[in-house]
Amino acid sequence: MSAPALPFGPGAPGADYARDPFPDLARLRDVAPRYHAPERDAWFFSARADIAALLRDDRLGITQGTSFADRSDPFRATVVRRLRGWFASSGPLLAQTVSTALDDCLATVAAHAEGDLVPLLAQALPTRVMASLLGIPASDLPALQKVSEGLIQGFDLEWDGRPALAAPASRVLALYFQKHWRGAPATELMALLRTTQAEFDLPQASMVDTCSKLFSAGTTTTAACIANILARLIEAAEAPHGSGEIPGVEELLRLDTPLLALKRVALAELRLGEAVIRPGQKAYLLVGSAHRASEGEAPAPSLTFGLGRYHCLGAALARLEIGALLDPMQKLAAGMRLSGPIQWRESWLLHEARSIPFTTHGVS
Ligand code: HEM
Repeated sequence: MSAPALPFGPGAPGADYARDPFPDLARLRDVAPRYHAPERDAWFFSARADIAALLRDDRLGITQGTSFADRSDPFRATVVRRLRGWFASSGPLLAQTVSTALDDCLATVAAHAEGDLVPLLAQALPTRVMASLLGIPASDLPALQKVSEGLIQGFDLEWDGRPALAAPASRVLALYFQKHWRGAPATELMALLRTTQAEFDLPQASMVDTCSKLFSAGTTTTAACIANILARLIEAAEAPHGSGEIPGVEELLRLDTPLLALKRVALAELRLGEAVIRPGQKAYLLVGSAHRASEGEAPAPSLTFGLGRYHCLGAALARLEIGALLDPMQKLAAGMRLSGPIQWRESWLLHEARSIPFTTHGVS
């Protein structure tokens, strides 16, 4: 009998992988934790220690669209530093923004006897939060949400039969934020960006790009993570013998993060044991796999938000959103049941519930 195929071949991931990619990722970690996929000429790393070392290695550059890595050093040193400082010192404003947005979203869900929790709550909450921080009017949100969807899809590997990308998603977002930059209300975050631009004489294109990246980074991954958590909660509420324990926020972030991998490209040759990564080769750091390896062991620092230079700028905000949502959502889930199967995105590198159809009819 031939051994089962390892993931990341040229074919489609398939429905089973989409629903639960973790058995395949665990097998890859057991069989080949430093795996070179010949068809892709790319490396896949799934051991935690390797990933932590590679995330701190400057010989690997970043390719991911939501990072600011493509910017010059002065840009990183100014805008990114200012943004990190602002997010770190704006706890009360962020908490208030989350609380207002969450109340609105929960009221909308409660007004529905049936519907889909993904658009109604998982996407709506982070989109409202980022819109409020960036001064985006509510009327623009449905169209922007569609554009974000194109961006997250672009994160996946190529595979046979992959749905066509809405190619110019990032250009549409750039055009939107060009206009927005000129007329946006002076929210605290927009005011910070404007002051920073003036102080360092930064080009407008960089500022427009910053707004686009903040919006897409702040909405796409958070929405997908919340969707995965909601899927877990509603399934737990439906389980025949009670729900069992729902993990805390950190554990949920670790288990339900939608990013199975962080993407890097080698800027210079580097070696890790028998693995030789040549300049220009891609390296996929499988945090989704490494996370689960530590199950049952002493908890290691989470890789959910990356590590080192590109560590997530919005981690505290994501934690606030998920923390605020858990209790009210568990209560709501107790009065709902699934009205159809949960749909999962077919993707090698993203794990994401795309639709969670619910009804409140017939729930005692
Ligand atoms: C559960 C939700 C989230 C997850 C799982 C997540 C995950 C990540 C990860 C893993 C990275 C590093 C990428 C890499 O090393 O390749 C990152 C970077 C980033 N994240 Fe998040 N993130 C989330 C929410 C947010 C939110 C709410 C914001 C809003 C401001 C945000 C903004 C950013 C930005 C701007 C970067 C790039 C930072 C840089 O280039 O220095 N993220 N995120």
